[in-house]
Amino acid sequence: MADAGVASRRACEEMIQGGLVTVNGEIVREMPVLVDPDEDRIVVDGLALPKRDPRIYIMLNKPSRTVTTNADEPGANRRTVIDLVEHPAAKRLFPVGRLDFETLGLLLLTNDGELANRLTHPSYGVAKTYRVVVRGQLADEDIASLEEGIYLAERKEGKTVGAARTARVQLEIVKRDRDRTTLHLTLKEGRNRQVRRMLAGVGYPVKKLERIAMGPLRLKGLARGEWRELTRDEVRVLRDATRPGKKGAGKGTSGGERGAEPRSERSVGGSGRSGQSSDGRTAAPGRAGATPKRRRPARDR
Ligand code: URA
Repeated sequence: MADAGVASRRACEEMIQGGLVTVNGEIVREMPVLVDPDEDRIVVDGLALPKRDPRIYIMLNKPSRTVTTNADEPGANRRTVIDLVEHPAAKRLFPVGRLDFETLGLLLLTNDGELANRLTHPSYGVAKTYRVVVRGQLADEDIASLEEGIYLAERKEGKTVGAARTARVQLEIVKRDRDRTTLHLTLKEGRNRQVRRMLAGVGYPVKKLERIAMGPLRLKGLARGEWRELTRDEVRVLRDATRPGKKGAGKGTSGGERGAEPRSERSVGGSGRSGQSSDGRTAAPGRAGATPKRRRPARDR
């Protein structure tokens, strides 16, 4: 009901308790009321809830120099992530979380506000993994500091209002060269420019940053700038990973807690596997799903 714009969640609960809501003709008062919004007829105070738009879930391999927003600031005229998705519903989708202008990789776009909230709210503790290339050879003591947590400034309305320690992260060195280190960093928080600030904080400027996984979802089979719909299986596994009550997920538990162990997650999104797209149509990873179009931008491949 709240998603359909009837009222706030709290007010909707009061309406249910007050006997104002029927499901398939029956008054419901006890919560939770489990309904299928696409199948069940829900009437609130005599008015039927309109059928909601079908849920759409898109994975984009974000190129650099692209803003994660639906509409850029007036006059800025930069390419947005929505510009890259030639899908009939693109204008109704919004990005799940934010990648910086220069950051590459896995970005989800959807019209499912509930799932988007669960994937991004720190209390659900959904892990995000980044492949990071930094300048310099990352020293063992700096790895230990990053894993343990470092203090990052907290800013509000352009002013520094204090500093907070980062939650535990997982860090794996992929390659150490003379002048650069490649690593995988997995974190469950999503503070502003967190990866760049953490690495810069211990003295290693980030040269390249790419998100390669979000919860159980992996970025595979999409060239830079390409997109596809998630398969039904991918959507199911994502929902499952954010189900309240799941270890490390749900209100009241903090997956970003210090010392929290990473949840073992079933990985989906690998290459070479095909399945059904989120609305039931066939989609193969690396190929456009519902709309047989995908675009590779001329820039930043
Ligand atoms: N951390 C960053 O610093 N930037 C991103 O875009 C995502 C995570």
